[in-house]
Amino acid sequence: MGPADSPFNPASPQALAIQNLFVLVLVICAVILAVVAGLVVFIVLRYRERPGRAPSSSEGNTLLEVVWTAVPLALVGVIFVATVATMHSVDPAPRGRPADVVVVAHQWWWEVRYPASGVTTANEIHVPVGRNLLFRIESADVVHDFWVPRLGRKIDAIPNRSNYVWIQVDTPGTYHGTCAEYCGVGHALMGIRVVAEPADAFASWQAEQSRPHPQPTSQLQARGARVFDERTCATCHRIAGTDADGDIGPDLTHLGDRKTLAAGAVANTPDELAAWLEDPDAIKPGSNMPNLQLSADEVRALVAYLEARDE
Ligand code: CUA
Repeated sequence: MGPADSPFNPASPQALAIQNLFVLVLVICAVILAVVAGLVVFIVLRYRERPGRAPSSSEGNTLLEVVWTAVPLALVGVIFVATVATMHSVDPAPRGRPADVVVVAHQWWWEVRYPASGVTTANEIHVPVGRNLLFRIESADVVHDFWVPRLGRKIDAIPNRSNYVWIQVDTPGTYHGTCAEYCGVGHALMGIRVVAEPADAFASWQAEQSRPHPQPTSQLQARGARVFDERTCATCHRIAGTDADGDIGPDLTHLGDRKTLAAGAVANTPDELAAWLEDPDAIKPGSNMPNLQLSADEVRALVAYLEARDE
């Protein structure tokens, strides 16, 4: 996340509505600050102690009392109406509509499922531009918080509870987010990437993800598939089209299509994947990925197998 990922650079109608509300409240508060501070300065200068002038006191001023009651009341009323209108437009009730995307927070990564197509991936959420999508946010362990600042509000991921948030991305691009609720040692390395693309690009991504993992096409990849099996990686990870069906760690089907590893901790390159397999803790301290004491040969074979992509 960098300055370009700021919520003051909104890329969805939801984030824009929230920014407009924020600016309105900010302007009202700035005017109040200017009036109060201005009066204090004026009164200090105008009525300061001077030789030969005794302080006078006056009591009761109906007009003044009406004004300082009515004006704040009107301002609070304006903020109230604007807030309710913003909540209504940003966050309408799902009313039984099925979620388009299900995001399950884990320590310390994001499981991403598309119920309509059955696609499961991790940390990188592809969406078609221009469509208002309903996200269901859940947690598999502790409280996390899903937040992509340019796309809208924060929303807690709470165990045994479903929360909903609407997101519509209007411009193709990549939007960075993060976990916004302290959730343990890996909290800082729990990145989100939302990739918004035109409908046809999204459809082809989804079709690609629906296919099984690429079959090994070299001896090295075939050895990687065997190592994956022998080293019990399948206890925690799923790879579509194989017997690997674990659901503790991220689904690794088409891992090679993702841009980052370990929820954005490092770029998804063969070297980084090798380093991750050799010593996960060095890249992401506290990660639940164990160090399996793999040999250099095993690492090479696993990288070739996991990073394999369809031509
Ligand atoms: Cu998950 Cu902080």
